[in-house]
Amino acid sequence: MVDWQGWQRSWDRQQEWYLPDREERFRVMLDAVEALVGDKPRVLDLACGTGSISGRLLRRFPGAVSTGVDLDPALLAIARGTFVDEQRVSFVTADLTDPAWAERLPYDSYDAVLTATALHWLTADALGTLYGRLATLVRPGGVFLNADHMPDASTPRITEAERAFTRARQARERGEGVQDWAQWWQAVAAAPELAELAAERFRLIGDPTTGDHSEGQAPSAGWHLETLRSAGFAEARLAWTSLTDSVVLALR
Ligand SMILES: C[S@@+](CC[C@H](N)C(=O)[O-])C[C@H]1O[C@@H](n2cnc3c(N)ncnc32)[C@H](O)[C@@H]1O
Repeated sequence: MVDWQGWQRSWDRQQEWYLPDREERFRVMLDAVEALVGDKPRVLDLACGTGSISGRLLRRFPGAVSTGVDLDPALLAIARGTFVDEQRVSFVTADLTDPAWAERLPYDSYDAVLTATALHWLTADALGTLYGRLATLVRPGGVFLNADHMPDASTPRITEAERAFTRARQARERGEGVQDWAQWWQAVAAAPELAELAAERFRLIGDPTTGDHSEGQAPSAGWHLETLRSAGFAEARLAWTSLTDSVVLALR
């Protein structure tokens, strides 16, 4: 039997090597969900990967339901395997840059749309278009939360100091055998249960084992807030911030 939970844990560990405050971001996002739309939300886990946000959501809120959407066949296989006995979540394959992506969803509106460490993969143009679509998908009174890299070009010395600090932490943790992005994907490609899906992913999206990532742009937090307001959200603000990343919260 495939150890999907083991893949889930190794994904989390690899992501935490980049984001040691990842769980704190998820907690802040779920606190905002509870505060603004209550403890039985219908949630869209956007660019869900292995379903990390959905997992935390369903553990915290027994009455929640979730739809995970992503385009990566290997990550979605881990998500589907992990949550095979969970009736409250379903997973949809779709590319968020496809104008028709939302037509594949099982619902036409959501109380909350949550996303983490993903939308920097999109160009600013594509992200602006996506925010326009989300403003119609989130119900009035509903929320959107995005935790992501949101660099501040006006603070280069702070950014450089943070980079050096992070590099030193990562080097220490490498001594403990932590996998980085490329190594994690090498392990996926070498696993019999995932090798075929990994090959499909490499063909579709690119090969991460060679350091390939995305053409995204990681706009500033200010850009996100302004674009969300222009897209039709009534209020938008930061819900959390670090020296490099933020969680933006927008209310419909
Ligand atoms: C670093 S992972 C984060 C996954 C998850 N949110 C988490 O925090 O563990 C980024 C995810 O964005 C997805 N993604 C990137 N571009 C996408 C697109 N155009 N459409 C759908 N998903 C996309 C990737 O496939 C990947 O699963």
